[in-house]
Amino acid sequence: MKTLIYYILFSAAIVFAANAAEQAFSSRPDPSALAKGAHAIAAADHVTASARPIMINIQGKWVSTDTCAICHEDQVSSFKSTTHAHMWKNGQACEQCHGDAAHHLETGGAPGTIQTMKNRSANEVSATCLNCHEKPGEQSHGKLSEHFRAGVGCTSCHELHPTKEHKNEMMAMGKSAMLKGKQSELCLSCHNTVDADFNKPTHHRLKEGILNCTSCHNPHGSDYDHQLRADTKTLCVSCHQDKRGPFVYEHNAQAIDGCMACHESHGSASRNMLKDRDPRTLCISCHSKETGVGVPHSRGNFSLQTSGDCTRCHAQIHGSNRSEYFIN
Ligand code: HEC
Ligand code: HEC
Ligand code: HEC
Ligand code: HEC
Ligand code: HEC
Ligand code: HEC
Ligand code: HEC
Ligand code: HEC
Ligand code: HEC
Ligand code: HEC
Repeated sequence: MKTLIYYILFSAAIVFAANAAEQAFSSRPDPSALAKGAHAIAAADHVTASARPIMINIQGKWVSTDTCAICHEDQVSSFKSTTHAHMWKNGQACEQCHGDAAHHLETGGAPGTIQTMKNRSANEVSATCLNCHEKPGEQSHGKLSEHFRAGVGCTSCHELHPTKEHKNEMMAMGKSAMLKGKQSELCLSCHNTVDADFNKPTHHRLKEGILNCTSCHNPHGSDYDHQLRADTKTLCVSCHQDKRGPFVYEHNAQAIDGCMACHESHGSASRNMLKDRDPRTLCISCHSKETGVGVPHSRGNFSLQTSGDCTRCHAQIHGSNRSEYFIN
């Protein structure tokens, strides 16, 4: 009951404050003209200080987004157009990231009275985000990701206050307005060498829209090298099921580097995304020992026929249920 009364009082005060503020500055906030409106706001906030039971900020009270909207309409409306707003229907959102706004309101937005993101390092901003996001799931690696460690912050890839144009552009592509750009372009804007990989003669058709960087990588970090989503066999066979096995005769080439023993991940100058331009060289790079399995081999009727691609005969190169030599 007490809470309800406070809310009614608060709403009334806000309407008053909004009117006062609107009259004082019609377009952009002007610090000196703000004092009057801000005073009313501060009073309203004082009244409702104990009427905010749902969440607490650093000093134990929350300011509604409506209050901030009086002076920061653009940021509030852009914010409300994102997924974040859905989570805070109560309107108690801004201070989650910008910190306690009490002094800011009392002074009518005097410089230096609120946590701006402008003069904070990428990692400081990211740490704010991780307060909520470092939970089991995509972002659970938090500060251990390669990106965090290299100072590439959440806001390098995410937009917290997207403009209307940005939102429309992203929605048209079926993407979240909170992403700074279309995924592959966003990633490739920093990873130039990877860009070149995907232009090679054989490549995963990423630029053609069949895969994404995040099909294989988690930009928020992972337990595997290169922020991969799984080890370099499990990852690949999650799509290439026919190579999964288990086979009666496994090709132990995969024992250490998984599929990367023979393939490139992004693209290659050789056929089938193989590591070596000449596939024979690839085989011989491992099969050259005198004592171990060696080549060139001369066995049975094949003695003079081992030129050309080795897979001409060893066609079941990924493993076989019939031939220990991976012959068809
Ligand atoms: C009475 C008007 C008013 C209200 C209400 C108000 N602000 Fe401000 N705010 C300002 C002004 C004016 C500035 C610019 C100060 C300056 O020049 O550095 C500002 C600056 C800021 C900045 C820093 C911007 C920058 O460019 O560095 C942030 C962040 C901010 N406000 C957030 C908020 C939040 C969050 C709320 C609600 C809790 C809020 N403001 C409520 C007037 C207001
Ligand atoms: C989830 C964290 C988060 C929340 C919540 C949030 N902001 Fe921001 N805000 C940011 C970040 C990060 C920036 C820096 C610019 C950017 O990346 O868009 C920013 C930028 C701003 C700016 C421009 C000045 C600056 O600091 O760069 C203002 C003003 C502002 N926000 C006001 C608000 C208001 C008002 C709300 C509530 C509706 C709000 N913000 C809610 C994260 C947040
Ligand atoms: C107070 C807690 C909190 C803070 C702080 C916070 N978030 Fe969130 N964020 C959420 C919640 C809750 C969701 C919604 C999750 C859902 O519905 O799955 C969300 C969703 C998101 C999404 C996905 C929504 C989409 O449309 O793509 C992104 C991206 C995101 N947050 C980025 C950030 C970034 C960047 C920051 C720091 C500037 C940040 N968040 C700070 C709580 C928070
Ligand atoms: C290098 C770019 C990059 C960085 C840095 C980054 N993200 Fe993301 N984030 C993405 C991409 C891309 C997606 C969309 C993933 C998809 O579509 O599969 C995403 C999705 C999300 C989502 C929603 C999807 C989900 O499944 O959870 C949240 C929440 C999120 N990021 C939060 C964060 C936070 C918090 C940080 C900082 C600690 C951060 N991101 C840093 C690129 C990035
Ligand atoms: C089909 C899965 C797959 C896709 C899609 C993919 N990657 Fe990779 N990426 C890998 C694998 C596997 C490695 C490790 C390569 C190795 O061990 O030789 C790797 C390595 C990397 C590396 C570190 C080594 C290097 O080449 O610089 C970066 C950076 C990278 N990827 C970025 C990206 C970006 C950016 C995209 C999207 C444009 C992308 N990857 C798409 C699988 C993939
Ligand atoms: C703002 C620039 C920037 C953006 C955007 C960016 N990265 Fe990065 N990325 C880096 C930096 C810097 C590093 C750490 C140094 C390095 O290894 O190159 C890194 C590291 C990586 C690594 C680990 C490389 C390794 O050798 O282990 C992968 C994988 C990666 N990024 C993938 C992505 C993906 C996927 C995206 C898009 C969702 C993306 N990056 C967007 C700058 C960026
Ligand atoms: C010992 C080297 C080697 C390893 C390890 C290897 N491959 Fe291959 N892969 C090849 C060769 C050689 C070809 C070309 C086959 C031919 O010439 O007929 C090929 C072709 C392919 C092709 C295209 C043709 C087809 O059969 O679909 C795919 C896809 C493929 N490999 C996926 C994988 C995956 C996934 C893994 C890991 C589970 C893997 N490869 C591990 C050597 C290897
Ligand atoms: C998200 C699903 C996905 C993942 C994960 C994936 N691939 Fe692929 N891969 C594809 C698709 C789709 C194609 C294209 C088939 C086509 O072009 O018809 C392909 C094609 C290939 C080809 C044949 C290229 C050619 O031109 O002959 C090879 C080799 C290959 N992938 C190896 C790998 C390896 C190695 C990994 C693990 C690093 C991997 N793939 C991970 C989906 C995936
Ligand atoms: C990364 C190293 C590596 C590469 C590259 C490689 N292999 Fe192997 N291969 C192995 C290992 C290890 C074994 C298991 C040897 C053993 O069990 O003694 C093996 C086994 C074999 C066997 C069965 C031999 C036996 O005695 O059981 C054949 C046949 C074979 N490889 C053919 C090939 C061909 C053809 C290529 C090229 C397409 C190739 N390998 C590429 C490492 C490799
Ligand atoms: C004309 C068909 C043919 C070609 C081409 C061929 N092989 Fe073989 N390979 C065989 C046959 C058949 C066997 C089994 C021999 C046996 O029964 O003793 C064999 C056995 C092997 C073995 C295991 C036995 C050993 O020598 O210890 C390896 C390893 C091998 N080949 C690698 C290669 C490599 C590498 C190439 C390419 C440089 C290659 N082969 C090209 C037919 C061929």
